[in-house]
Amino acid sequence: MSDTQFTPRVFSGIQPSGGLTLGNYLGALKRFVDMQNEGSFETVYCMVDLHAMTVWQNPADLRHNTRELAAGFIASGIDPSKSILINQSQVPEHAQLAWIFNCVARMGWMQRMTQFKDKAGKNAQNVSLGLFAYPALMAADILVYHATHVPVGDDQKQHLELTRDIAIKFNHDFEVDFFPVIEPVIEGAATRVMSLRDGSKKMSKSDPSDASRINMTDDADTIAKKIRKAKTDPEPLPSEAAGLEERPEARNLINIYSALAEMSVDAVMTDVGGKAFSEFKPMLAELAVEKLAPISTEMARLMNDQAEIDRILAHGAEQAREITAPILAKTYEIVGMIK
Ligand code: TYM
Repeated sequence: MSDTQFTPRVFSGIQPSGGLTLGNYLGALKRFVDMQNEGSFETVYCMVDLHAMTVWQNPADLRHNTRELAAGFIASGIDPSKSILINQSQVPEHAQLAWIFNCVARMGWMQRMTQFKDKAGKNAQNVSLGLFAYPALMAADILVYHATHVPVGDDQKQHLELTRDIAIKFNHDFEVDFFPVIEPVIEGAATRVMSLRDGSKKMSKSDPSDASRINMTDDADTIAKKIRKAKTDPEPLPSEAAGLEERPEARNLINIYSALAEMSVDAVMTDVGGKAFSEFKPMLAELAVEKLAPISTEMARLMNDQAEIDRILAHGAEQAREITAPILAKTYEIVGMIK
């Protein structure tokens, strides 16, 4: 463990590999805004375009999705005057440190990554080398800022453990106390938002069924329709959280309500216990529209001025490099590169 005192700094990222979902918003983005506004951290947030291209992206779509994601960050409340907002490829130190970490991380560690195994499936020989090395780039994203806290959804937990392992091994191998051992921040009712069609599957932008997710660009009618059609069971809602245990679809909708309303699950259960889904779903739809529609409207407005988005990202990259360039330079020195 590290004895060095590091500046409390938050880093997190989202892939511009498609649209933003309600899972991204509740599991990550909303938490990013909370941590920005809390005021106890410096905050750095990132569109990870280099990660997105580990699976094929049409170049025009990637550019569009990156700008749209930046608009989503800002529309959700990330303020470029309070947080550093960047696009990964515009800060070259991420990829440079990733190479060093490729040489620190072990094949066995990477082979254990469940997300790689899920994404590669039976096709492991045919996926990109980048997909395999993905978690080392993620560790570099975080550690090139000496970030200390990383808010993410539950599915990123194993990658953050690997980030800790890389920092510990680097510090040990080079006999330094240079990289912080980060704290994952996986908190709240919505660290794992599930598909609206199947309570055992994560809500994901890559699910072939659009009805399985709420997209941050969906209009009010679409949001309401998807919630109305969400899979449920025939029983009324229980009055206590314990009654949700064997009911994944009901639990998912309650968790979504709890996160959107910023109420504890227990408080939600007190309000809605005993109600049928026919009564609860319109309540949830109304709440979701109230919270999400202003974000999608603002995203659309921001996308009308893409030059302004590009300007914000260029400025973010400049601010970021003031932090990352000295950390990379020191890393190069530690490992023995000539200046
Ligand atoms: P990505 O783009 O898949 O997801 C971005 C964030 O959204 C969270 N998330 C969810 N949370 C709750 N329920 C869901 N259904 C759900 N789906 C997604 C994810 O946990 C994540 O926090 N590898 C990362 C991106 C990344 C990164 C980083 C994150 C690259 N470098 C450095 C943190 C720090 C990813 O693919 O996230």
